[in-house]
Amino acid sequence: MTPAPEKQRPLALVTGASSGIGEAFSRALAARGYDLALVARRLDRLEALAEQLRTQHGCEAFAIQADLSIVEAHVPVMEAVEARGRTIDMLVNNAGYSIPKTFAATTWAEQRDFTMTLVVAVAGLTHAVLAGMIARRRGSIINVSSMAALSPGAAGHTLYPAAKSFVLKFSLSLDAEVRKKGVRVTCLVPGFVESEFAIANGTKELMDEAGRKYRMTAESVVEATLKANDKGRTVVIPGLINQFAAGLMKYLPDSLVAAIIRGAAEKYRVED
Ligand SMILES: NC(=O)c1ccc[n+]([C@@H]2O[C@H](COP(=O)([O-])OP(=O)(O)OC[C@H]3O[C@@H](n4cnc5c(N)ncnc54)[C@H](OP(=O)(O)O)[C@@H]3O)[C@@H](O)[C@H]2O)c1
Repeated sequence: MTPAPEKQRPLALVTGASSGIGEAFSRALAARGYDLALVARRLDRLEALAEQLRTQHGCEAFAIQADLSIVEAHVPVMEAVEARGRTIDMLVNNAGYSIPKTFAATTWAEQRDFTMTLVVAVAGLTHAVLAGMIARRRGSIINVSSMAALSPGAAGHTLYPAAKSFVLKFSLSLDAEVRKKGVRVTCLVPGFVESEFAIANGTKELMDEAGRKYRMTAESVVEATLKANDKGRTVVIPGLINQFAAGLMKYLPDSLVAAIIRGAAEKYRVED
């Protein structure tokens, strides 16, 4: 008798898988029985992680080198997945960074690339996977926002709260559209998380000092997010301190919150 074909694992595509929260998502999803498509610019890191995941979990894991700041960045990413005959069961829009200077002190190219990566690529990839998920009546989309989305803006990191607000509102609208079609949307709203985020934007010393009390591990925020997605929750704010701060920002007068944020933001801004 011919043995029954092995059931294929579902596939998760994680952007920004080369470090921090994206790497933690990739490891947690491989442990949960997913195959992994790992997306970022640093191919050596992706390939090393893919190799580890294959060895540790017996899953299929492959690297897709992509710069998400380019126009139509989602197209070559989707082509790489399709070339392997795969469809995406879970999309984790995680890649991101911030620019710790004032808007005027940066070039337009820096701000444009930022917006392409944190806003346009998120919408583009989601659009590319959504029709398939709806047709199969199954799928998960996890978008990584930030506590910055909940607070008033402040000098420096100028577009960051705007981009992360987009991610949050986009997730809420998307959830309203697709919830009854079998697709679960969850937006992660993290506070300080241990990762290379501050190294990448040159504020490590400032963040180390200021964020020590509030920092969470990437593994813990990922665990909270995957549990939230399992339960069909749309927004997850990991950590009691962050939940408390989110509550304060909702109910305190805007002027008071803005003054607090102005003071705190100075610590994370690089001088122009
Ligand atoms: N850490 C925190 O405190 C914190 C708090 C709130 C929200 N977040 C959000 O969490 C997400 C993950 O950040 P993290 O903390 O894990 O930081 P991280 O360790 O610096 O990771 C950022 C990831 O994004 C990728 N990336 C950046 N620009 C890219 C581009 N143009 N194309 C493709 N990939 C790109 C990086 O890969 P390559 O450099 O290899 O391309 C890297 O894998 C971000 O969206 C961030 O805004 C972080």
